[in-house]
Amino acid sequence: MLRRLYKDQPASFSFTPANLAWAKGQISKYPEGRQASAIIPLLWRAQEQEGWLSRPAIEHVADMLGLAYIRALEVATFYFMFQLQPVGSVAHIQICGTTSCMICGAEDLVAVAKELISRTPHTLSADGKFSWEEVECLGACANAPMAQIGKDYYEDLTGEKLRELIERFRMGEVPVPGSQIGRYAAEPVGGLTSLKEFESGRKQFNASVQAAVDLKDTVKRIDGTEVPLTTPWLGKPAAVTPAKGREVEPKPGAGAVADATGATVQEAKASSPGKPKSDGNAPNATPLATPEARASGQAGGVKPAGLSAPKDDKADDLKLIVGIGPKLEALCNRLGFFHFDQIANWTPGEIAWVDENLEGFKGRVTRDKWVVQAKILAAGGSVAEAEAAAKA
Ligand code: FES
Repeated sequence: MLRRLYKDQPASFSFTPANLAWAKGQISKYPEGRQASAIIPLLWRAQEQEGWLSRPAIEHVADMLGLAYIRALEVATFYFMFQLQPVGSVAHIQICGTTSCMICGAEDLVAVAKELISRTPHTLSADGKFSWEEVECLGACANAPMAQIGKDYYEDLTGEKLRELIERFRMGEVPVPGSQIGRYAAEPVGGLTSLKEFESGRKQFNASVQAAVDLKDTVKRIDGTEVPLTTPWLGKPAAVTPAKGREVEPKPGAGAVADATGATVQEAKASSPGKPKSDGNAPNATPLATPEARASGQAGGVKPAGLSAPKDDKADDLKLIVGIGPKLEALCNRLGFFHFDQIANWTPGEIAWVDENLEGFKGRVTRDKWVVQAKILAAGGSVAEAEAAAKA
């Protein structure tokens, strides 16, 4: 399979302050001159933050490590663990299709993924929540067929069990990973036949599943705000720098300033372009326009009426809408949008137009439910209520 950078790239990338602090900690583990060795954890954290690796993210990591961009690109494009295109906002499902899993029913799992997510791999589901791909052996052959969802393995699957898992993820649950037929690990389905003394005194789950349950970061994005960053090897929270303001990046090992491209937490969260345009071959691919807009033939959308200046010279703080940071607020203002009640009244066609014209942030209006949030804020609701509505 060709591994290429995605056709639509965000304008920029920066780590959230918490993730930047974590990245600095990783870099500091290596002796002077060897900081390039931190590339995989840094790329991985960038992916954990955004869901996938964009070109700006790869180049940002290269800059932090003093590497030529091509060196970082070589790593990112070589390893299949790195996703080079947008993935589902809830989960990307990697179904093992190698021998053991294929013999034990991987084709049923692929069929369910095609039915519930998209007919083609690496294509977002209609609601943008899921994507899938077939991968090579993930090393859990004794519990075939299996799939990796987020960071965890779901084993002993059937098509029906995968269907159930996807539904539960869709509802916001994170099902316990591991064997889905009650096996503790990889013992015979009928239970241990030897070494039975090890059954007493063990924890509820095997070590891998227990860690997943304890850490609770399985399919969630790690941006340092929603999920506490942990240092599992120390068993305590990682040192996190204050969440406000821009951070400067260190040159490898020198502690000197390299640049200051940091965006805010919200912009970092919003910097990946989310939903790709339909390629025409994938019926379930999610286009940038909303389904309502497509249904009404407004795929290109209609530009909402804007204002030349804020009413009473006082613009609303659009940054209270989750997903809007200073850059997006400035962009909205340039387009003539200054107030919650303007956004609250956008029609599906207008949403489609704005989504298409958000430069490096295409699709954010729909994905982050700006209109729902704006309605709440315009009616005097709290930020917490708006945020909860965005996540619902
Ligand atoms: S063949 Fe599927 S995990 Fe090895």
